[in-house]
Amino acid sequence: MAARGLTATLLIFALLASSASAQLSERFYNSTCPSGPAKVAEVVRTWITRDRTLAPALLRLHFHDCFVRGCDGSVLLDTVNGEKVAAGNINSLRGFEVIDDVKTKLEALCPGRMSCADILSLAARDAMVQMAGPILNWTVPLGRRDGVSSFASEANSALPPPFANFQQLVSLFSAKGFTTREMVVLSGSHTVGLSHCRNFQTRLYNFSATVATDPALEASFAAALKRQCKFGDTTTLVKMDQSKSVDTWDFSYYSNVLRGKVLFQSDDALKRTTEGSKIVQALNRAGSSFSAEFSAAMTKLSRVGVLTGTSGQIRRKCNLVN
Ligand code: HEM
Ligand SMILES: *[C@@H]1O[C@H](CO)[C@@H](O)[C@H](O)[C@H]1NC(C)=O
Ligand SMILES: *[C@@H]1O[C@H](CO)[C@@H](O)[C@H](O)[C@H]1NC(C)=O
Ligand SMILES: *[C@@H]1O[C@H](CO)[C@@H](O)[C@H](O)[C@H]1NC(C)=O
Repeated sequence: MAARGLTATLLIFALLASSASAQLSERFYNSTCPSGPAKVAEVVRTWITRDRTLAPALLRLHFHDCFVRGCDGSVLLDTVNGEKVAAGNINSLRGFEVIDDVKTKLEALCPGRMSCADILSLAARDAMVQMAGPILNWTVPLGRRDGVSSFASEANSALPPPFANFQQLVSLFSAKGFTTREMVVLSGSHTVGLSHCRNFQTRLYNFSATVATDPALEASFAAALKRQCKFGDTTTLVKMDQSKSVDTWDFSYYSNVLRGKVLFQSDDALKRTTEGSKIVQALNRAGSSFSAEFSAAMTKLSRVGVLTGTSGQIRRKCNLVN
């Protein structure tokens, strides 16, 4: 009897421990800050109306938060040797001012209630919905708490670099619970947003000892990139999807991959295995399920490694531990 009770208790604890993310709920602020999520959307909409390039910036900020210590707002912290100064983040991540503005307004509305991790997760969704229109939307369950630590070294090993090959991408995403298909789907976010020239300089000018320009780049595309990014230019920002003049949410990323018109080796890598190539082609078909699959993958991303209950804290300022 006692033994069975103990077994049941242990089982319940095991279930609770393994399902921390199941505690997130869309109604989390229902009683403590009922107008909070709508306020986040309102503030974010104002920013995106002024500068729609902030939408991809916030999406990436959320991704980089979630892949390092889970979606705990650790990417926002101004810690010495914190995530912000990691190779893939420094002089690159944008949108912090949006999060700080939202946080100030949320603290005025419901002091000490809404975590920076939740604000970032909502802001990424709200910004992208505002930019993309009705074709895109995803559910953001709430109740994340804020972490108190941030380490550049962890970001350096968890975040995929632009020169990653297919196996490296599969392995980095699998480490966070994502399938190969979800990895390819999430990469489709490169259908919007900007990149600094430095991330593909080598492909343009110093590919190998014998070939200056990566032969995987389509010739006219490589020429166009060289006009935008001169040799040695590390700072200029260029559109990642060069196939359109205005950034729109669509699945053109996958046709760009197939035609050799993508900026990074990691983009090109998606078609370099039989498995990857099949997925890229499937997502590139008319009536592609890309946006629906992307939405599901984003909700899943937003649950990675979250702190809930009494873990962590609700920061008063997103860049500082209380
Ligand atoms: C698959 C591996 C990935 C690699 C190697 C990669 C790499 C990069 C790099 C190097 C940039 C340019 C950053 C800069 O120059 O400042 C970039 C931009 C971006 N990435 Fe990725 N990324 C990957 C996956 C993702 C995922 C999963 C998402 C979102 C779910 C994402 C969203 C974005 C967005 C939206 C931008 C544009 C940011 C802006 O306009 O400020 N990426 N990525
Ligand atoms: C709050 O939650 C309750 C039950 O969970 C629900 O009935 C109610 O509609 C919610 N209110 C809002 C504003 O979402
Ligand atoms: C997006 O989805 C959320 C949650 O499912 C919903 O509350 C919101 O109204 C949707 N936004 C748009 C613009 O459709
Ligand atoms: C890189 O490429 C440029 C121009 O293609 C060349 O002048 C330079 O010597 C190369 N540098 C290295 C280290 O190969």
